[in-house]
Amino acid sequence: MSSGLGRFVLQLSERSAFRKLFTQTPAGRKLSLRFVAGETLDQAMTAAAQLNASGARVSLDHLGEHVAEAGAAEVARDDYLACLDRIGSDGIDANISVKLTQLGLGFDDGLAVASLAALAERARSVGTTVSVDMEESTHTEATLAAYETVQDRFGNLGVAVQAYLYRARADVDRLLRSSGHVRLCKGAYAEPPEIAFSRMRDVDRNFDALARMLMRAPEVVPAIATHDEERIELVRRLGDNRRGPWEFQMLYGVRPRLQQELIDAGCPLRVYVPYGSAWYPYLTRRLAERPANLGFFVRAATRR
Ligand code: FDA
Repeated sequence: MSSGLGRFVLQLSERSAFRKLFTQTPAGRKLSLRFVAGETLDQAMTAAAQLNASGARVSLDHLGEHVAEAGAAEVARDDYLACLDRIGSDGIDANISVKLTQLGLGFDDGLAVASLAALAERARSVGTTVSVDMEESTHTEATLAAYETVQDRFGNLGVAVQAYLYRARADVDRLLRSSGHVRLCKGAYAEPPEIAFSRMRDVDRNFDALARMLMRAPEVVPAIATHDEERIELVRRLGDNRRGPWEFQMLYGVRPRLQQELIDAGCPLRVYVPYGSAWYPYLTRRLAERPANLGFFVRAATRR
């Protein structure tokens, strides 16, 4: 969910000059390290171990999306299998978060489903789960369908719901039947007003209504993904009355002090830790959410 300026940043990010500015300059790479744990699995595991030591669980995201051929989708699947093996061998309290367009959704949905099933099976063998990120609205239905197919077989999956979509309430109702974990977020893409709220206060109102539904539903594990203190306060109160498991989720590098405060107050928190070399689209969404982050880039670029 971005402001007008945020939407402008997302549009600009499609331009190759803008991309070069961030991916080919030291200031751009420095900015990326605020939100991305590093380019390698080793760096991600180091960050995950530190977060575990601070009291947070982790979700590891090997960055990538919209791959255009089967070979690249299979490489992405294998990278995630290696990540799951490391979670098991290093004894890290972590799961993985995957984008289905990285596994082939959009050009070979069957391949994406088969790869998601392979990840669910490996995750089960190391005693963890797989979260499915939600991407642009063109993929919402296919993502939910893939999630349901694999969740029916393995039972260790979760999926994200975006509160900015009008359809989110119906999707939450539908997901109550699948007994996975449901990550509630505001939504990070530029969506048209025909399908999504464009005013932040409408998104917040919908977010609160959906958070109430999830926190009162014994069938699912609610994962409330936000850095918004008003939303967090509401969910903390709902959490006091919830018997089953639930958690907050936040992004690596975003409001780290608030993350530690929640942990210290005894709230369950999972930190989403992205890693890998394909960080540019992820970074542009973080800039769109808070264009003030561009100030960090400008300062790094102009510092002698
Ligand atoms: P909001 O944008 O109102 O921010 C509240 C406050 O948090 C801001 O005032 C600021 O202080 C701080 N903040 C927020 N974003 C920041 C940033 N980038 N840099 C610095 N400070 C920032 N989206 C999606 O479409 N599909 C998905 O699958 C996911 N998955 C996901 C997982 C997890 C764990 C999280 C936390 C978020 C997602 N998102 C997502 C992103 C989500 O939709 C949303 O864009 C961001 O979380 C920002 O929204 P907030 O709820 O934090 O509120």
